[in-house]
Amino acid sequence: MNWLALRFLTRVRRARPRDMRACAALYCAARRRAYPRVPADRFTLDDFALSTRGLETWVADCHDQVLGFVSFDRTGREIAHLYVTPDLQGRGVGRRLLTKACRLIGEGAVLECDSRNQSVVAFYQALGWVEQGPGSSDEHLVLRFEGRRHAA
Ligand SMILES: CC(C)(COP(=O)(O)OP(=O)(O)OC[C@H]1O[C@@H](n2cnc3c(N)ncnc32)[C@H](O)[C@@H]1OP(=O)(O)O)[C@@H](O)C(=O)NCCC(=O)NCCS
Repeated sequence: MNWLALRFLTRVRRARPRDMRACAALYCAARRRAYPRVPADRFTLDDFALSTRGLETWVADCHDQVLGFVSFDRTGREIAHLYVTPDLQGRGVGRRLLTKACRLIGEGAVLECDSRNQSVVAFYQALGWVEQGPGSSDEHLVLRFEGRRHAA
């Protein structure tokens, strides 16, 4: 996908039922990469539906192709998942998805991420997230959005 299409034709919109399969495939593939020691068949397309139950999901879409998604709990102000398709990472898609989620959540957005994944922690810090403390396990950190406030 070229730069112009990414920059001008990509839009962030609420996920529709027909996007779910693409989101599930992205989620499943990313988890297989993140946990190489776990047998790949432990991760299935059904994991996405289970782990996003009750959450709002938005996608970055270009020509009806899902480039990435963000899932969050607007009431709990928590971002639960953010994934961009690997060959389009580093081109601003993650930033756009995260910005949309923060706008919709409003003040006080939080998320939890794996502190061993320094690249992801650095990504969030570059976008104005700061460490709040430990998360649900020793390896996890809670980050809070302290960057520029977004208009609703
Ligand atoms: C983490 C992830 C969502 C980031 O999305 P992305 O589209 O690659 O990131 P972007 O291109 O939007 O980056 C936005 C900004 O963050 C900065 N950034 C990205 N990675 C960074 C890093 N490792 N260190 C410092 N800054 C970083 C970029 O420089 C960019 O700033 P710029 O626009 O001023 O150059 C994506 O890499 C991904 O899907 N990773 C795998 C899944 C994952 O780990 N998700 C997080 C689960 S909590």
